[in-house]
Amino acid sequence: MASPNQKKRSNRPERIRKVDNRSPDQIAAADGKLGVLLVGLGAVSTTFIAGVEAARRGLNRPIGSLTQMATIRLGKRTDTNTPLIRDFVPLAGLDDLVFGAWDPIPDNAYKSAQVCGVLRPEDIGPLEDFMSGIVPMTAAFDTDYVKKLDGPNVKTGANKRELADQIREDIRRFKEENGCDRLVMVWAASTEIFLKATHVHASIEAFEAAMEANDPAIAPSMLYAWAALREGVPFANGAPNLTIDMPAMTALAAENSTPICGRDFKTGQTLLKTIIAPGLKARMLGLSGWFSTNILGNRDGEVLDDPESFKTKEESKLGALEHILQPDLYPELYGDMYHKVRINYYPPRGDNKEGWDNLDIFGWMGYDMQIKIDFLCRDSILAAPIVLDLALFLDLAQRAGLSGVQEWLSFYFKAPQTAAGLYPEHDIFIQQWKLKNTLRWLMGQDLITHLGQEYYD
Ligand SMILES: NC(=O)c1ccc[n+]([C@@H]2O[C@H](COP(=O)([O-])OP(=O)(O)OC[C@H]3O[C@@H](n4cnc5c(N)ncnc54)[C@H](O)[C@@H]3O)[C@@H](O)[C@H]2O)c1
Repeated sequence: MASPNQKKRSNRPERIRKVDNRSPDQIAAADGKLGVLLVGLGAVSTTFIAGVEAARRGLNRPIGSLTQMATIRLGKRTDTNTPLIRDFVPLAGLDDLVFGAWDPIPDNAYKSAQVCGVLRPEDIGPLEDFMSGIVPMTAAFDTDYVKKLDGPNVKTGANKRELADQIREDIRRFKEENGCDRLVMVWAASTEIFLKATHVHASIEAFEAAMEANDPAIAPSMLYAWAALREGVPFANGAPNLTIDMPAMTALAAENSTPICGRDFKTGQTLLKTIIAPGLKARMLGLSGWFSTNILGNRDGEVLDDPESFKTKEESKLGALEHILQPDLYPELYGDMYHKVRINYYPPRGDNKEGWDNLDIFGWMGYDMQIKIDFLCRDSILAAPIVLDLALFLDLAQRAGLSGVQEWLSFYFKAPQTAAGLYPEHDIFIQQWKLKNTLRWLMGQDLITHLGQEYYD
């Protein structure tokens, strides 16, 4: 629904920059049901589903979700025009969401939520009727890519291409059986082993041939992404896996006009890093070291206890600081920074992670200081609203005719996907600005630069 205050402005001063003439009429209405297909029905997915259902029943507020709770300023500060984002852009409503999932473990969403232990029994108990109806479809799963878990609910086929085709059939069947008008898919399954893009991922043709040849460079996550894009279903990658960060997938997304984004939900320690580091840099304070260590005891922590899965996560976590601090531009401040990230599997804590950070910083005349952070964090509580926002924004992007990498959704990721050759923006404030300006642009509104000269003319 468009804001009542969407007047067109002309002859605006410098502060306003029009990119091109987007208008709300270019966005198809969010009519009918939106199916949210979740790969993995573990801690993040079940916490997401439970939170949406609790919000629909009026039991809880969707805290942490921009699409549900944030406002957006339109026009000048003196206009006092700040609608809720969900009243400004046409998004699917919570009541229109339908959930589907795949998982090698056959537990339904209620049982899985109990096992994951994120939510208290008194919070999931009232949702049992709804959540026990969400039963995972058989997964394209292979223990070569996720070593620390296994389950019987898996697909079989002569080769990877056949498995991917079965996922395509699942997508179509889900859509029909649930009367969905549109679908989005989010990877919220375990972190796979570290893989680098090779010639196999360089083109659609090479990728499809490799699926048929059962090439080990094709991980299960890629089969879901390929199936989604072949079906024109937008895809978000919540884990650090390669999955869609490759030319084959970006080409397929372009060919089928489908939006994609990734990778690795920005929660916990990296969220704090991308909040604090931009502030230190803004004040030109030096950083000689940042040591981060975590203990967590959920299934994700167990999977990350395998060195090959941890390597995938480590790569994704390390990039943010380098990009924010730009040591090449500020060698005296950040050139010798030592950055270390450790994740330790510690079962007693379950999903309630504890993350310690020690920052060695320095200021005027080189005097050193320290910052210590002890974050008693709940990972899935931070990840669940991200899944909701990504589902709704990807659906918006598709209805607005955007396709390929959606860099404006970098806000939600530890290692944001960008166009080839472009470095990602990790600073959460730049990311938020980009996200909101993209929404203004989509709705034909003036972009906000914060120059503000007009208030003093
Ligand atoms: N919790 C967070 O804050 C957070 C933040 C960033 C990224 N992530 C990533 O999100 C993912 C999910 O995290 P989680 O805490 O829910 O983990 P989890 O272990 O509780 O759930 C993952 C589920 O995925 C399933 N799975 C594994 N491989 C699969 C496949 N090929 N097909 C279908 N299902 C498969 C597993 O059986 C499991 O049930 C992980 O990759 C994690 O690294 C989580």
